[in-house]
Amino acid sequence: MSPDHTGSVGERARALVAGLTVPQKIRLVSGKDFWRTEDLEATVPAITVADGPHGLRKQVGASDHVGLGGSVPATCFPVAAVLASTWDPELVEEVGRALGREAKAEDVAILLGPGLNLKRHPRGGRNFEYLSEDPLLSGRMAAALVRGIQAEGVGACAKHFAANNQETARMVVDTVVDERTLRETYLRGFEIVLAESSPAAVMTAYNQVNGEFCSDHAHLVGEVLRGEWGYDGLVVSDWGGTNDRVAGLAVGLDLEMPGGAHAFDAEIEAAVAAGRLPVASLDRAATRVLEAALRWQEVPGRGTPADLDAHHTLARRVAAAGTVLLTNDGILPLRPQGTLGVVGAFATQPRYQGAGSSQVTPTRLDSLWDVLTATLAEQAPDVSVQHAPGYDAATGATTDTLVGQATRLAAAADQVVLLVGMPGREEAEGRDRAGVRLPDGHERLVRAVLEVNPRTVVVLCHGGGVELDWADRPAALVEAYLGGQAGGAALVDVLLGAAEPGGRLAESVPVRVVDLAADANFPGHPRQVEYRERSFIGYRFHDTWSVPARFPFGHGLSYTRFEHRAVEVSGIGTDLTVTVELANVGDRAGSEVVQVYVAGPGRLLQRPLKELQGFAKVHAAAGESVRARVRLYRRSFTVWDVASGRWVVEPGRHEVLVGSSSAHLYHRHAVDLESDDPPAPAARTVGPVAGDEEYADLLGHPVPVPARARPFTRSSPLSDLGSSWAGRRLLGLVGRPMARRFADGGSAEREELLESVLAGLPVRALAQMGPGPVTFARLDRLLALLNGEPLRAVGRRRTD
Ligand code: BGC
Repeated sequence: MSPDHTGSVGERARALVAGLTVPQKIRLVSGKDFWRTEDLEATVPAITVADGPHGLRKQVGASDHVGLGGSVPATCFPVAAVLASTWDPELVEEVGRALGREAKAEDVAILLGPGLNLKRHPRGGRNFEYLSEDPLLSGRMAAALVRGIQAEGVGACAKHFAANNQETARMVVDTVVDERTLRETYLRGFEIVLAESSPAAVMTAYNQVNGEFCSDHAHLVGEVLRGEWGYDGLVVSDWGGTNDRVAGLAVGLDLEMPGGAHAFDAEIEAAVAAGRLPVASLDRAATRVLEAALRWQEVPGRGTPADLDAHHTLARRVAAAGTVLLTNDGILPLRPQGTLGVVGAFATQPRYQGAGSSQVTPTRLDSLWDVLTATLAEQAPDVSVQHAPGYDAATGATTDTLVGQATRLAAAADQVVLLVGMPGREEAEGRDRAGVRLPDGHERLVRAVLEVNPRTVVVLCHGGGVELDWADRPAALVEAYLGGQAGGAALVDVLLGAAEPGGRLAESVPVRVVDLAADANFPGHPRQVEYRERSFIGYRFHDTWSVPARFPFGHGLSYTRFEHRAVEVSGIGTDLTVTVELANVGDRAGSEVVQVYVAGPGRLLQRPLKELQGFAKVHAAAGESVRARVRLYRRSFTVWDVASGRWVVEPGRHEVLVGSSSAHLYHRHAVDLESDDPPAPAARTVGPVAGDEEYADLLGHPVPVPARARPFTRSSPLSDLGSSWAGRRLLGLVGRPMARRFADGGSAEREELLESVLAGLPVRALAQMGPGPVTFARLDRLLALLNGEPLRAVGRRRTD
């Protein structure tokens, strides 16, 4: 499960650490600057780390962690939402390899991805960057990426550990979640990625979980990650997310990032001197940092340029493989004739990635319009292709003139391709989405175009969840998400049938977001979010509480048709193999995803109606028959028993359900299981959202009262400080220079993003990431003053 520490790298690192002084070791455990670790003079050089999940973001100029500054050109692969929709670990592993090669070419030792937090709510600001609402799919696809990246010798970093499912107050919010939900839902993907791919690093999340920050979480990092899972790789903080450095070292957080400020060094030194922090903890952390650096020195081919043309071609293939065909009355693949109308500014100004730390500077960018017109000029020169923008790409707004132009074009066209979605500024790390409806301009355009021409294919370009009231009206509806730099070309491939839309939804599309159980507590109080819906997110909610999704998890049509000829479940007890014989009975090659869910008895515990426990993607030529195999294990049937702290089997009838989506099952197989260690019976909730008493029962203690804004602490968000005169002054003195450091000038959009990022920073970030020198001692004095405790402030000064 963990990197080899017995080999020479581990031994050398340990030997080096043994020869260091305490201050030297302390220096090693936080970075040298924004993206590099400290070097060990003349012995071990620094290594560079860089974002991110779907492309390399290696910054060369000003550094920031929110996507403001530029980075070297790199292939922008489709975002994680698309990668997961491929349901194809082999293909995603290929993407990982390409990412690894590009990182290696740029001397980047660790790539900060994949991100596998669950899409708890469709408004989650980073949903585009995350894989799925389901932990098994997330874990498996993340593992594929990690295997690919690491096959090139570059380390991958699974992030953000854990329960980091919103952007609102992301650096301070306390996620209140009961242990069973945590284990079965929010930790499971991490457990899978560790078991199936051994990532070189794990990044702790910004938020708190049940009252403790992830960076120093005794249970999450100490007991679960390091203890139970035996993870021995590098644990790194999220950027500016280190809360209590000494406690972090004690539980297993090795590296604080970004570095440069070394703000915690004095506290670590004092803790070691006072015996509050065992030197062994510091040694372990320093060893792991050196190991990562030493290992990098041994990777062959560093600095070798990557084949960017080949990567662009791969990006195109993957984007098509992750495109989901939601509906199709047969219009697709298009057989263009007469006039083909293309409506939507995204046709010429593609939306292809989200904003934030994952933002890549693409090596090139295909627009649907360029590729479509070039392709048709060759293949169907008689077809006239016309374009109307319909809306402003940046804002999503439309005008009577734009709508008029678009409808005139659509009315006169034989077929229409209409691209709509979310404007880029709506989908950025650092803030949750304001809503789930397309911008009014897009909504208006969809209705107007459909009114004049029902032979319209609507293509959706966005990263997070959307509500689609009119989904049954277009002739076809295509979910393209954000397809990366080759997304425009991939769409042309799909529309014209050169490629099939190989995707299946990795997240449910709800009818109305307000009906979702998670919506009752998203994004929660300013300081606390309660996961009262427990595991009932995505299809677990829709299925269990009989609230059908508009498009269910796992759904996606093909251009061909598969018949399921025979399904067999063989094996003993919980070690089962599901074999499905499939025949491609259509007239073209295509793919199908066999999805295997398990339904538990749910007599002793309230459980989701069913949960995905395995899947297989198969490809078949026209007329070909193929066999899909999915293995199930004990863990496919277990639940987390809070009383004993173990994974146990609930005795009774389970069902293995085989289907092509969570709502379309074509085979059921009963499995009767006995159990020597049944879970302790637990109370049930009446509805999907636990009430106060029910929730307290599940938590095992009263529902915590959200932290108050005052007194101010090191963890208070800067926005809270603005409520006092002195706080505003502090923001002016320190916050502004910090803002300037991240972005000099820039567009209103950048400033807006920056403002929300700054407002959400905890006070301690001024010391950790500020322009310096702001020591914690000074900050604490200031906080005492702001809290109206001048004596404490003076007292602290004396003891500085
Ligand atoms: C993000 C991480 C990212 C880091 C470095 C943080 O703001 O949460 O995902 O890896 O910045 O850019």
